[in-house]
Amino acid sequence: FSSLVNNVIGEAKYSKTTGNRVSYKGHQVLRIHPMTPSQVDELREMRETETEDIKFWTEPSGNRTTDIVVAPDIIDDVKDFFRQKKIEYKVLLPDLQKTIAYQNPKMSKEQRDDLVTNQGHSMTWRRYQRFSEIMKYLEYLEMRYPNLIEVETIGHSYEGQPLRVVKVSTGKNEKTGESKPIVWIDAGMHAREWISTAVATYILNELTEKNSTYSKLLDTIDWMILPVSNPDGYEYSHVSDRLWRKTRSSYSDESDSSSRYTPAGLLHLVTHYTKWFWGKCEGVDPNRNFDYHWGQDKIRNGASTDPCHETYEGPQAFSEPETKAMADYIMSNRNNIKLYLTLHSYNQMWLVPWGHTHTKPSDYSDLIRAAKKAAKSIHKVYGTSYKVGSSADLLYPTTGASDDWAKGKAGIKYSYTVELRDRGAYGFLLPATQIIPTSREIWAGIRTIARIVTTDI
Ligand code: ARG
Ligand code: ZN
Repeated sequence: FSSLVNNVIGEAKYSKTTGNRVSYKGHQVLRIHPMTPSQVDELREMRETETEDIKFWTEPSGNRTTDIVVAPDIIDDVKDFFRQKKIEYKVLLPDLQKTIAYQNPKMSKEQRDDLVTNQGHSMTWRRYQRFSEIMKYLEYLEMRYPNLIEVETIGHSYEGQPLRVVKVSTGKNEKTGESKPIVWIDAGMHAREWISTAVATYILNELTEKNSTYSKLLDTIDWMILPVSNPDGYEYSHVSDRLWRKTRSSYSDESDSSSRYTPAGLLHLVTHYTKWFWGKCEGVDPNRNFDYHWGQDKIRNGASTDPCHETYEGPQAFSEPETKAMADYIMSNRNNIKLYLTLHSYNQMWLVPWGHTHTKPSDYSDLIRAAKKAAKSIHKVYGTSYKVGSSADLLYPTTGASDDWAKGKAGIKYSYTVELRDRGAYGFLLPATQIIPTSREIWAGIRTIARIVTTDI
C-alpha cells in the first residue's frame, strides 16, 4: 500500500477544494470486506497513513466491513490494489457529490413563511437545519413554554458559539418534593452526523408540543438535551466540508510538535508531508478527548496522536472547550443523571461500555438487558434493527470517548452511545426524508429505556 501512496503524494493533491467549499465530485464510497487477519492489517496500515485521498468512515476490524471514501484520481489504483490483494469490496456510493446534493433539499422563502404561520417557528424536520436556526428554535421553546423549558448556556465553542442545554422539567416531584431523575442526551458531537442533531430537536418538539401525551414521562423524569455539542464543526460541515468530523480548534501555533516524532507521526511524514510539516491540521475528535484512559493504553487505531488524523485525541484530555464544558456540567449534575445517551451515526447500534477495552463492566448484563428492550421498542415502529453490544466488540477499542467517561468518571451507571440510521446505504449523508422516521423509532427506544432506568432503582 505504501508504494501506492508514494506514487500519489508526489503530486500533492488538495485540488478538491473549489473556492471555500470542498467538492466530492467523483469520490466513491467503497465497502471493504476483509476475510483474513492479514487483509485487516492491510486496511489498518491504510488507516494509519490516512491521506486526503482516502478517508475511513468506519474503522477496520476483523468481524465487519469497513467503508472508505476514495478520491477520483486514485480510485482505479485503489481498486487494483484490492483486487491484487484479493480483498473483496463493492461500491456503495458511486459519486459522493451527487449524494450530498440529494441529501438536503433547499427550502424556499415561501415554505419558510408558511412554517412560521402554521407553527410559530421556522424549524422543520423535513430538512437539516443550520446552527442559527436551531438556536432560534430553542429560544422559541423557552418563550412558548416558560414553565417547562429552560435553556442554559453551559460554555462556548472554540470559535465562541454557545453550547446550549435545554432542560425540560415540570419541577420537583409533586409527591416526594424531591428532584427527579435526569435523562441526558447529547448530539452533534461529530460534525457530519447531522441526523443526531435532528433527532435531538425532534425529541424537544415531542416533549413540548405533546406534553399532555407525555405527562407521565414528564411527571417522573427531567430531561437535559444538548442538540449541538460541536457547533463550529457543525457549521463547517454545512458551509465548507460536508464530511468534517472534528472540532475546529488549531494547535499549530503552539508548535507542539512532539507527535511528529511518534511512529505514527513519522509514518505520516512520508505520506502526508506538506500538511504535516506546516502543522496546518485543524480539529480534535471530541469523542477521543474525554478524560478517561485518555492517552493511555494506546490501542491500535483507537485514538490518534496525529493532529491531521480524523481521530486526533487532542494535545491533552479536555483540551477542547466543548468537551470540557459538557463534562463540567454533567459532573455538577451527576447525582441526578440516571441515563447518559450520546447520539451518533451511522450503523444502527445501541452501544454499551466499555469502549476502551474488551473487558466488561461488572454490571454489563443490566446495561445489555435495558438496551435490548430499547432495541425491541425501536424495532416495533418500522422494523428497523439495532445491534446491541459493547463498543469495543461491535466496533473497535478507543480511548477518551464520552460514554466511557460518563460511566467510569461521572459514575452514571446507564451510559450508551447510539449509532443512528442507516447501515451504509447513505451513511453520513442520510436523506432528510429519513429524519422523521429515524426520530420516531429512536424516540420509542429512548422512552422505553428512560422508564426502565428511572423506575428500576
Ligand atoms: N463511532 C463512535 C466513535 O468512533 C463510537 C464510539 C463508541 N464508544 C466508545 N467508547 N468507543 O466515536
Ligand atoms: Zn460519531
